[in-house]
Amino acid sequence: MIEEIEEFQARALAELRTITTLDALYAWRNRFYLGKNSALGEISRGLGKLAPEERPRVGQSINAAKQALEAAYAVCETEMEQQERERELREDLVDVTLPGRPAAPGSLHPTTQIIREIERVFLQMGFVIWESREVESDLLNFQLLNIPPDHPARDMWDTFYVRTTSTDERVVLRTHTSPGQIHAMRRFAPEPIRVLLPGKCYRYEHVTARSEFMFTQFEFLVVGENITMADLNGTLAMLAESVFGEGTRVRLRPSYFPFTEPSAELDISCNICQGIGCRICKHTGWLELGGCGMVHPTVLRNGGYDPDQFSGFAGGFGYERSALMRYQINDIRLFFQNDLRFLEQFGS
Ligand code: DAH
Repeated sequence: MIEEIEEFQARALAELRTITTLDALYAWRNRFYLGKNSALGEISRGLGKLAPEERPRVGQSINAAKQALEAAYAVCETEMEQQERERELREDLVDVTLPGRPAAPGSLHPTTQIIREIERVFLQMGFVIWESREVESDLLNFQLLNIPPDHPARDMWDTFYVRTTSTDERVVLRTHTSPGQIHAMRRFAPEPIRVLLPGKCYRYEHVTARSEFMFTQFEFLVVGENITMADLNGTLAMLAESVFGEGTRVRLRPSYFPFTEPSAELDISCNICQGIGCRICKHTGWLELGGCGMVHPTVLRNGGYDPDQFSGFAGGFGYERSALMRYQINDIRLFFQNDLRFLEQFGS
């Protein structure tokens, strides 16, 4: 029996040497010596069949085998845990000398950049910046600006009607920033005013490289005594030089708007070819920026000013159009697509 136990011990230890994982080690322990169902448990049960005088010696031999296996197990377990830790450290290795991931700071949208720049120029000229509502009544968007219902001039603005009840109560997405003129005049009349009204406008338009259904305009309005077209001209000259660069010339071309008399289109000399003629300015040397003129007496009256005492000038230009020219962008839709490849080019 004792020989049998020694042989058992040798077999168990031999097998232990082939074990390479902790799981296999636990299985080895259960199989050989832990609990009644282990091999050693079975040997122990054989003790009962032995003659009483033999039992102590065999019992000692069983205990010795158990201790030997336990000791071998403990050594093996420590070793394997150590190996496991080393493997984890190796696999999870962090190379602290690698360069870090660069932070990606955003930048202002090109429209915001040009808005701020234009606002700065107007602020320097003593204008107040006013934001007006984007959802307007037909009354303010059209009628008080001297565009009665069914007037052919309405064809100039393809309109999103939000709600239509009676004509007066029709609600529209403003087609231009001009209704802000009425709000501003009614707020300040009869004081003289200089306001800049920037904001989004909406038109029910076919979207192309040159027009979007949403765009940003800036409207400027000056009302006071003895305001003349020369003031308008000077203001525009200053604006053009500040935004498009020194030497940029302005030209007023006769035009028509119901809310101004006389009305004009503002052209600036092409800042790409310096007026010589190129593809961007269609070889004219001039770029069209927007409409302007002397505020129509009816509009002044609607705003609360007496046209016999007061006069004023106003204008409305598109920001994106200005940015198209300034940055030589060939498609207005790029402004609203949130494509980082486009936006990142305007990082400051
Ligand atoms: N509101 C006009 C438009 O969007 C632009 C405009 C023209 C505004 C003449 C004005 C102006 O203030 O005087 O087409």
